[in-house]
Amino acid sequence: MDWGLKNRIARIISPADNKALMLAVDHGYFLGPTEKLEDLEKTIAPLAKHCDSLMITRGALRSSVNPDYPVPIVLRVSGGTSIIGEDLSQEDITVSVKDAIRLNATALAMSVFVGSKYEYQTIVNLGKLVSEAEEYGIPVLAVTAVGKEIGTKDARYLSLACRVAAEQGAHIVKTYYCENFEKVVKSCPVPIIIAGGKKIPEKDALKLTYDALKAGAVGVDMGRNIWQSENPVAMIKAVNSIVHGTNNVEQAFTLYKQLSGKPNNNKPNQKPNNNKPNQKPNNNKPNQKPNNNKPNQKPNNNKPNQKPNNNKPNQKPNNNKPNQKPNNNKPNQKPNNNKPNQKPNNNKPKNNFKN
Ligand code: R5P
Repeated sequence: MDWGLKNRIARIISPADNKALMLAVDHGYFLGPTEKLEDLEKTIAPLAKHCDSLMITRGALRSSVNPDYPVPIVLRVSGGTSIIGEDLSQEDITVSVKDAIRLNATALAMSVFVGSKYEYQTIVNLGKLVSEAEEYGIPVLAVTAVGKEIGTKDARYLSLACRVAAEQGAHIVKTYYCENFEKVVKSCPVPIIIAGGKKIPEKDALKLTYDALKAGAVGVDMGRNIWQSENPVAMIKAVNSIVHGTNNVEQAFTLYKQLSGKPNNNKPNQKPNNNKPNQKPNNNKPNQKPNNNKPNQKPNNNKPNQKPNNNKPNQKPNNNKPNQKPNNNKPNQKPNNNKPNQKPNNNKPKNNFKN
């Protein structure tokens, strides 16, 4: 595999743990001003530093993302239909590879509608796009789109759709989580990431993330369940604590609540102890230093994801990624080689980046 192609894929899926957190904000290309995505810039700005890459359209990128910010871009290059049109599957390629290069896209994304009226058109377009993008070392993410019929798609269908996309040469496939998702992952020879789908309660979205990764997905390309959340930054950090960290659903949800400023009733030490008069600040004594012997004044060290761990050897920036500046605010986005789940799993057949 060409160096450029490998390098770009490494900017989407971290080679340190073989995981990816992509933030999807491309919905407007067929849905128009989706709820909470009406003001793209306002929605994207606080979240962009917490994801590995941003899935977005050409117009939204130009109008609403600061070009000085080095987030890798997964550029949607297909479209042509809208939610009020006749058939969502009638997509074509709408952005040239030349323009994608001008926009410094790290990867291209397009939808294939397997089993639809326009199946042939979208699958052939995928093959052509892969051929052209590979000339420039640009990876292609194939989205197994299901139009309005998502409820009817099961592991059998999604396995077929993912495999068809991979056989056309897609480097990464994005699909939906379903029952028996292991089957979908096992029969797809390239990495799979999952879409979040419609907004569901935060804990359910965290469970979706956890279950998908446990079944073998390398990560998520999540949109609505992050930016339609009551606390989008807290949510993306909680999702990240599963994707790049070791949190389970309960731990991630606890983190979400803590970051949202909601009390955690399971942890009694987090509440102030009103019986200890010295624990309250004395506003008349400006020089009063905190008493480090007071148990409730200490941080809760049981919450590993709330603070960056400066002892982790892989927390240094990856100098091979010229545009990826280290984000010191993202404690969980960096691999911890002490954690077994964060190491790349070379046994996973879907990671076929090494030729
Ligand atoms: C579908 O391809 C859309 O373009 C979104 O990128 C995708 O659905 C992921 O977003 P969400 O998590 O909101 O489903």
